[in-house]
Amino acid sequence: KKRITVPDIMATKGKRKLTELTAYDYPTALWVDQSGIDMILVGDSLAMVVLGHEDTLSVGMAEMLHHTRAVSRGAERALVIADMPFMSYQASLEQAILNAGLFLKEGRAQAVKLEGGRRVVPQIKAMVEAGIPVQGHLGLTPQSAAQFGGFKVQGKTAEAAKILIEDAQALADAGCFSIVLEAIPSSIAAMITEAVPIPIIGIGAGPNCDGQVLVVHDVLGLYERFTPKFVKQYANLGEPIRQALIKYKEEVESGTFPGPEHTFSMDEKEISKLGS
Ligand code: KIV
Ligand code: NA
Repeated sequence: KKRITVPDIMATKGKRKLTELTAYDYPTALWVDQSGIDMILVGDSLAMVVLGHEDTLSVGMAEMLHHTRAVSRGAERALVIADMPFMSYQASLEQAILNAGLFLKEGRAQAVKLEGGRRVVPQIKAMVEAGIPVQGHLGLTPQSAAQFGGFKVQGKTAEAAKILIEDAQALADAGCFSIVLEAIPSSIAAMITEAVPIPIIGIGAGPNCDGQVLVVHDVLGLYERFTPKFVKQYANLGEPIRQALIKYKEEVESGTFPGPEHTFSMDEKEISKLGS
């Protein structure tokens, strides 16, 4: 299987819709890859949907690298993008490039993603110069939730929308190969998609983007604490999983499991030797 490349992704602009989903482990990466999804994001949403934290701030490089390695082992065709965790790229340019590099070198990802507009342009330029492809992320950027006062739709005023459009242009100029736009009015997302020359991947940004991304646990119904308005749940796997585990418990307790087909046997002759 030939892997989708960064130039392949860029060349789809205006031609076909792109698909992106998150994954955090090997089996999920296999499922997403086998489904023909273009890009797999090892999102820092890991913190919430897999590790049970309240927000995305509490994962660091060690956890993100650990999960990126697992995803890379399962993804043969999809482009693997590692999410730069909070404080892995904000403090200094040198730290930003070294950490981004680790995701390619040790994580075996093909690209990284980071949050922010014009304030992260120096980091993006330095990464791109070092040969590291970068996906941008604008709108509701969860690492800045404290600054926004929570998980809130962004770009709702003309002034905020103008800043978003300028930020998207700045990210494209800095060398990003695509941009995630999260939780903004669809009219603004459409304007940005029209205005910038790189693929715009929406999540809660309406139908007029170049592609869509969702958290795989939301799509499959595996994260039951909270479901944002922009999620479409394509399966509710929490319920069949609970039913299967209840059945297992009941069969062990009633003695139905394990049955003869799950059980190893030994020759009668050998057993009789034991008794003597
Ligand atoms: O961490 C994540 O899953 C993300 C997507 C929602 C884009 O950043
Ligand atoms: Na993220």
